[in-house]
Amino acid sequence: MMKAVVFEKFGEPAEVLTVRDVPIPEPGRGQVRVRMIASPINPSDLLVTRGLYGVLPKLPATPGFEGVGVVDRIGPGLNPLGRIVLGKRVVVINSKGGNWAEYAVISARHARPFPDDLPDEQVASAFVNPATVLAMIRHVLRVPAGAWLLQSAAGSNLGRMVIKLGRHDGFKTLNVVRRREAIDELKALGADAVISSSDGPIPDQVRRVVGEAGVKYAIDPVGGDTGTGLFESLTADGRLLLYGTLTGEPVCINSRHMIAGRIRAEGFWLGHWMARQNIPTSLKLFREIASLIRAGVLATEPGPQFSLDAISDAVREAEVVGRRGKVLLKITGN
Ligand SMILES: NC(=O)c1ccc[n+]([C@@H]2O[C@H](COP(=O)([O-])OP(=O)(O)OC[C@H]3O[C@@H](n4cnc5c(N)ncnc54)[C@H](OP(=O)(O)O)[C@@H]3O)[C@@H](O)[C@H]2O)c1
Repeated sequence: MMKAVVFEKFGEPAEVLTVRDVPIPEPGRGQVRVRMIASPINPSDLLVTRGLYGVLPKLPATPGFEGVGVVDRIGPGLNPLGRIVLGKRVVVINSKGGNWAEYAVISARHARPFPDDLPDEQVASAFVNPATVLAMIRHVLRVPAGAWLLQSAAGSNLGRMVIKLGRHDGFKTLNVVRRREAIDELKALGADAVISSSDGPIPDQVRRVVGEAGVKYAIDPVGGDTGTGLFESLTADGRLLLYGTLTGEPVCINSRHMIAGRIRAEGFWLGHWMARQNIPTSLKLFREIASLIRAGVLATEPGPQFSLDAISDAVREAEVVGRRGKVLLKITGN
């Protein structure tokens, strides 16, 4: 038997998540079993637990989309390439969720060996946020050096990576936060400009920084008035990627503005984007992530660590307003 975090109904994470003894899973055809070392608490895990994510599991279920672990058993039908992961430390990409447990079973293709010099705390969060940043900025929007990129929730772990990628790749970041206290901290991190949604309409503040035309590139995980404000800040031919739902509120699109300005607003989900990439692109992406984590650009700021038994405290901590760093579930030793 093993310990796993389980929920039987959707609801507030601190209330519905419990720790249970459940049978250790066996890997099926093409799968591997991973002994989990650690797994972060991401906003998407909490959305699933609340029943508010795009794809929901059958209940009872265990959350946890990413993490780090050691492959301890392989299922039948794997070719020699698939078998080389046995005994290796891997990034555990679990598209169905299930990493908040002592063992997880995933497709062998989703167990990605990662360079030994990077610590478990970094490897645990090496996929969801870093891959999303590179996919949105370099592959989908292709933000060129010298251009402005407007982003909201800029103080998030992902937002901080975007700021540091801006410094690295040479594009300028215009960052929206909800708390004024975050402004100086993000400037110190390398943000070119930081505004607060509490200081008046976002489009007016944006135009005071970049000029009347507005910005060409924007990314928003907040929705509601903030997402709408980002849309209204776009220049002709501007592009807005909507990649999260932190307020749970819809973005209001002015269709006249959109039609006349040839503006594009589109959803971005890493799961869909990864499914369209071929093997060489995906291998290259992981090499880029490892080297940019080493360079500090896509490194995750470590937050407090909790055991599985303290799951209620851990999920509460993950949503404390203004908390920095990624909360990590430390599951087994390595
Ligand atoms: N689409 C995809 O494929 C994809 C992939 C990865 C991540 N994401 C999304 O990216 C976002 C950031 O993820 P993360 O791991 O970096 O999160 P995180 O570190 O937990 O940070 C969350 C941030 O959101 C801000 N925030 C929370 N609720 C808010 C609200 N109602 N209005 C405005 N700001 C709010 C917080 O601001 P304070 O600092 O003021 O507390 C904090 O800075 C999440 O929405 C996540 O779902 C999407």
